[in-house]
Amino acid sequence: MLQLFKIHRHFQDGIPDYLARHYWWAYLWRPAIWFFDHEWVINLILFTQYRQLKQETLKLFEHSSTAKTLQLTCVYGSLTPSLLQKLKPSSLFVCDVSHRQLEKLSSKIDNKDQLHMTRMNAEHLAYKDNSFSSILVFFLLHELPDDARLRVLAETLRVLQPGGTLICTEYGNLASNHFLHRFAPIRWSITWLEPFLDNFWRQDLVTILNEQALPMGKTVQLKSKKTLFSGFYQILELEVIQHKNKS
Ligand SMILES: C[S@@+](CC[C@H](N)C(=O)[O-])C[C@H]1O[C@@H](n2cnc3c(N)ncnc32)[C@H](O)[C@@H]1O
Repeated sequence: MLQLFKIHRHFQDGIPDYLARHYWWAYLWRPAIWFFDHEWVINLILFTQYRQLKQETLKLFEHSSTAKTLQLTCVYGSLTPSLLQKLKPSSLFVCDVSHRQLEKLSSKIDNKDQLHMTRMNAEHLAYKDNSFSSILVFFLLHELPDDARLRVLAETLRVLQPGGTLICTEYGNLASNHFLHRFAPIRWSITWLEPFLDNFWRQDLVTILNEQALPMGKTVQLKSKKTLFSGFYQILELEVIQHKNKS
């Protein structure tokens, strides 16, 4: 339906096909960027859980090494400005494949010296191995097709240094007892708008992270897991360990 009239073709300048095709209306179209960047809108989309998701995510930075932090892609709302406050005086690196998203982020930040923004596809990060001590991925993974998700995870693990922390805030797994999962019309509406969510719901993130980490001689250990809204959302704190030299 959202692909009717091939509108996505207007957004294809260096943008991954899945993003232009399925999410132009959310991340690439200027009126949408203006609209979705209101906290009440995000809060509605996240079934009123936005503030808590944000707070719980930021809390994890209180005991992580924040010497060099990467936020993988832009997000709507005040998460990035709040994260910058938390990291002060350390700086934050943010990459996103959409220049419009980077422009929007820039407009929300006063102290631009603390922020390093780069237009980059997260499937092929132009950072050196082991560059970052912590990485935040906030509601990105469920928006990626399976193959892109695996590439993004592999790149994330490559650029995260041993001992570093990966924080993933995401949808939880599909559960038979959550009313939003059980109620088919809601489930269909969500997965109509989010075409890659259904697969993501069924994947165990720690397992697929470890599969990607293996060829790098790294492993990923779950340090903490917080679920919100009866498990509909999850916040994972993971540590990356180097157990042998890269094969
Ligand atoms: C983080 S996700 C979803 C965030 C969440 N819905 C929110 O705003 O709170 C959306 C961002 O990911 C970016 N994005 C998607 N795929 C990408 C990729 N392969 N590389 C870099 N950025 C990507 C989009 O341009 C968009 O800015």
